[in-house]
Amino acid sequence: MILSTERLLPDAQGYARAAEILHEGGRVAFPTETVYGLGGDARNDMAVAGIFEAKGRPRFNPLIVHVESAQAAQAYVTWSDLAERLARAFWPGPLTMVLPLKPDTGLSPLVTAELPTLAIRVPAHPVAQALLRTFGGPVAAPSANPSGRISPTLAAHVIAGLDGRIEAVLDGGACDVGVESTILGLADGPVLLRPGGISAEEIEAVIGEPVGHHADGSAISAPGQLASHYAPGASVRLNAETRQDGELLLGFGPVACDLNLSPTGDLREAAANLFGHLHALDAQGADAIAVSPIPDAGLGRAINDRLRRAAAPRPGTDRP
Ligand code: TXA
Ligand code: MG
Repeated sequence: MILSTERLLPDAQGYARAAEILHEGGRVAFPTETVYGLGGDARNDMAVAGIFEAKGRPRFNPLIVHVESAQAAQAYVTWSDLAERLARAFWPGPLTMVLPLKPDTGLSPLVTAELPTLAIRVPAHPVAQALLRTFGGPVAAPSANPSGRISPTLAAHVIAGLDGRIEAVLDGGACDVGVESTILGLADGPVLLRPGGISAEEIEAVIGEPVGHHADGSAISAPGQLASHYAPGASVRLNAETRQDGELLLGFGPVACDLNLSPTGDLREAAANLFGHLHALDAQGADAIAVSPIPDAGLGRAINDRLRRAAAPRPGTDRP
């Protein structure tokens, strides 16, 4: 069924309409500080199923639940001293904690894909905060892109991917972090499940111990861990010093290129530009995108993680 996707402004009327759509079990894309999320009422099975349907997710992968405060989070997950310290340091902000799910929370089992744990975060973006307050309940939200494609950092990216498949998008401008939240597993020991907007170094500084890393090749506990993900239409070649025939070069630092993630070599700026620049090169009809080397430290790890998945062989296609 084709819907007419409403464009909502981030004002009182827009929030009221967005909350109404959520209460009715509809889907509203909204900006967070990381990327745009595709939100639905986390207590409503139909709403959550509708999220998977709109994205074309191949199976019911668990979703992150967004709440307005650490106090609200404690209604859904078993809290700990460590969770409290991390929440004080990084919430609201781009950290998702995976904690034991409490019994009888009223959340749809589709949200957790029936896992005993729940991924939860408090977004910092003022539009996300206002939406959560107006709605007054938990919002399940994956990134607002068709499954396997680049995450959206502008309302226009959401429309390009999901127009006619969702009820509304709240336009809050560009997302400033630009890569998804860091996912930290806390159900058994701190384990980095997905690098993201908060670096492992920042987390270690708060908890005073090294975080474990999700071993490559082990069971998939986060589908962001699927080898091919975040893929643009074009093929992607990494660590490129120069452009080869037919390629557009996505640069980093002072290099001659088609589009630059950060001419000054600033990782924060590069993260903020990453998905937008990939969308832009895709929109130019690039067949092949080459990417300059990015230092593998701090936010650079999240950037390289997304780029490796964008460059990975894609199952079911003949593209490299
Ligand atoms: O920044 C973000 O995290 C954005 C914004 C919208 O909040 N959301 C986002 O959601 O990136 P999504 O669905 O694209 O990625 C969520 C990841 C998936 O890889 C999923 O497997 C993982 O979180 N996840 C969810 N629940 C989990 C759980 N209980 N245990 C382990 N991983 C989980
Ligand atoms: Mg995603």
